[in-house]
Amino acid sequence: MNHSVRPSLTPAQSSRTDGPAYLSGFGNGFETEALPGALPIGRNSPQKCAYGLYAEQLSGSPFTAPRATNERSWLYRIRPTVAHWGSFEKVDAGLWRTAPCTEMDMPLAPLRWNPLPLPETAQTFLEGIHTVTTAGDVAAQSGMGSHIYLVTRSMRDEYFYNADGEMLFVPQQGELRLWTEFGIIDIEPGEIAVIPRGVKLRVELRDEQPARGYLCENYGGAFSLPERGPIGANCLANPRDFLTPVAAYEDRDAPSTMTVKWGGNLWRTELQHSPLDVVAWHGNYAPYKYDLRRFSPVGPILFDHADPSIFTVLTSPSETPGTANIDFVIFPERWLVAENTFRPPWYHMNVMSEFMGLIKGVYDAKTGGGFVPGGFSLHNCMLPHGPDMAAFEAASNAELKPHKLEGTLAFMFETRFPQRVTRYAAEVPEFQTEYTGYGRGLRKHFDPSRP
Ligand SMILES: [Fe+2]
Repeated sequence: MNHSVRPSLTPAQSSRTDGPAYLSGFGNGFETEALPGALPIGRNSPQKCAYGLYAEQLSGSPFTAPRATNERSWLYRIRPTVAHWGSFEKVDAGLWRTAPCTEMDMPLAPLRWNPLPLPETAQTFLEGIHTVTTAGDVAAQSGMGSHIYLVTRSMRDEYFYNADGEMLFVPQQGELRLWTEFGIIDIEPGEIAVIPRGVKLRVELRDEQPARGYLCENYGGAFSLPERGPIGANCLANPRDFLTPVAAYEDRDAPSTMTVKWGGNLWRTELQHSPLDVVAWHGNYAPYKYDLRRFSPVGPILFDHADPSIFTVLTSPSETPGTANIDFVIFPERWLVAENTFRPPWYHMNVMSEFMGLIKGVYDAKTGGGFVPGGFSLHNCMLPHGPDMAAFEAASNAELKPHKLEGTLAFMFETRFPQRVTRYAAEVPEFQTEYTGYGRGLRKHFDPSRP
């Protein structure tokens, strides 16, 4: 068996001194090689590639997409992907569901869950996907799936790619190593990673410590940075803080499997070698990570509460301007300084549908308990939601000096499509049956004699 892993020698930065190296920027035309001279100069497809490599293009957009949304990379690999192919058999997808998934009626209620416990048994990333909601239609390349991953074992000679969508990882507990064909990404709670549609990878645990987190499967347009409008050229998520791995490859001959998610099903074939064999690549279609602690929030500095869209990290656009297929929004640490203002999120109903999770701390609209790190909630299209009684009473009577929300990080996967709950999520013991009525605890304060 020939097994070697060669990291790139390309100068790059790393967020950890002992971790992999990365290239900085969002959607840049990156280039990286793990062996000197592996990348062709000034052309994509020479008659013979250096080191006997094959050239292969991976297109994330139609060839004819406008430059701003055109995505492709050229990969120089030991074998082309057609050689990592075979006779595929459909395998059990476990609790992974894909839209349209109509196994349950649309819930006309706010819904919330306690954290799903990590299992005692060995479970890889592929075995540990628990779908909570689906929205839209994967065949129409619109909508998304919201999943919880519970991982207690690294994938070893097991490889995977998702043809149905790109995958946004949001770790809540434990660290993951995403060994992709473009290179190696390490993520921990507080960071995110995006694996584009069609990119092969193996998901490993760091130090074999179990991991739990949230996964957004985006069937629609690739995540991009939101426009900043009058905010200008800085703040929110800045492009330089996005990190793409340098090239790394395996020249590994060993019995292996490759699983592909396609059309909502999982298909598997046997291989005799690793498909993570890309020695060099260039282009703008590549996986990346981002440290949410580098997000620079912008908000009200005199009075009132801005719309939560100011906290958008990444957006997957739809064909309708301003109407996202998905917005990935965070509620990070920040100062609250607004005068004469009810500072938590206000009560509202809206057309978008919100899946929410909590990475750590307390979310300022839900201080009455029940929404805990690792938990999650769903507030669907045109269903009312807002602060619970504890949050309302405290915020209505608080002394409005500058106050810092510390040690907290919540997020939303917000989509234009109503989200359907899976049967698993509706019946799991962690479902909070009493949450539906949380608003009834709000007391009547009306007094016509007291303006
Ligand atoms: Fe909301």
